[in-house]
Amino acid sequence: MSVTRTFADVKKVILSAHRNTEADDKVGFYDTWADNYDQDVGILDYRAPNLAANCLSCSFHGDREEAVVLDVACGTGLVAAQMKKMGFGDFVGVDGSKGMLELASNTGLYQDLKHCVLGVESLPVQSGSFDVVVIVGALSVGQVPVAVVRELCQAAKPGGYVCMTTRGNHDNVDYKASLEHELNLMEVEGLWCRVMVTEVENWERAVSDQEDGYIPGAVYLYQRSLRQRSTSSSSSPK
Ligand SMILES: C[S@@+](CC[C@H](N)C(=O)[O-])C[C@H]1O[C@@H](n2cnc3c(N)ncnc32)[C@H](O)[C@@H]1O
Repeated sequence: MSVTRTFADVKKVILSAHRNTEADDKVGFYDTWADNYDQDVGILDYRAPNLAANCLSCSFHGDREEAVVLDVACGTGLVAAQMKKMGFGDFVGVDGSKGMLELASNTGLYQDLKHCVLGVESLPVQSGSFDVVVIVGALSVGQVPVAVVRELCQAAKPGGYVCMTTRGNHDNVDYKASLEHELNLMEVEGLWCRVMVTEVENWERAVSDQEDGYIPGAVYLYQRSLRQRSTSSSSSPK
């Protein structure tokens, strides 16, 4: 365990990562941050894992012990830890940082952990096999590209839930708009239905010089369609 850290230490670390714009650089940054991550996000008052777990807990009415959860960009395991408290018990994790995966493995919460840099490699899971897919803290500029949300949807079982979060602060405004555009487009295409979107004002403490206090964020919950809409005219009813 490292020495006690301050908000100034955390700010310096996070601002250093903003120089990394490629996914490979970003996961390399998480390798170096892994040992201090849990302590530092505590200092940031990072509430996203709890907000996402609560959102899922309100909408999921199946057997939580039996439900298979895919925790994408699982980091050190904070999301699985929150979901475990709410009765979920079967987790598979994916992350691009080997340092973060090692800490996730130490929690003993995951049945399986897979290394994958999303956007560069395909999500290494079978389509249609998860009751819940969750991604927290990783859909943002320089991390996981927006296009990956289609892979998240595909990983869910028909009727399964996909819970996603993003930040609403200054440097992520364009990414958030592209993400919402893609989520809506996928609903129009009949891939999933929106269950709820929650905009949160006090998401986490601001670290950039342009912002004070807390930055905003959002939680999105979608449910994969039971049947995909056919685009072929030959399958239309006669
Ligand atoms: C802010 S942390 C969030 C971790 C965890 N979900 C949580 O809420 O504590 C972001 C995580 O996303 C991972 N990540 C970022 N970009 C990635 C990418 N392109 N592919 C895979 N993992 C990525 C990082 O390695 C890191 O573990």
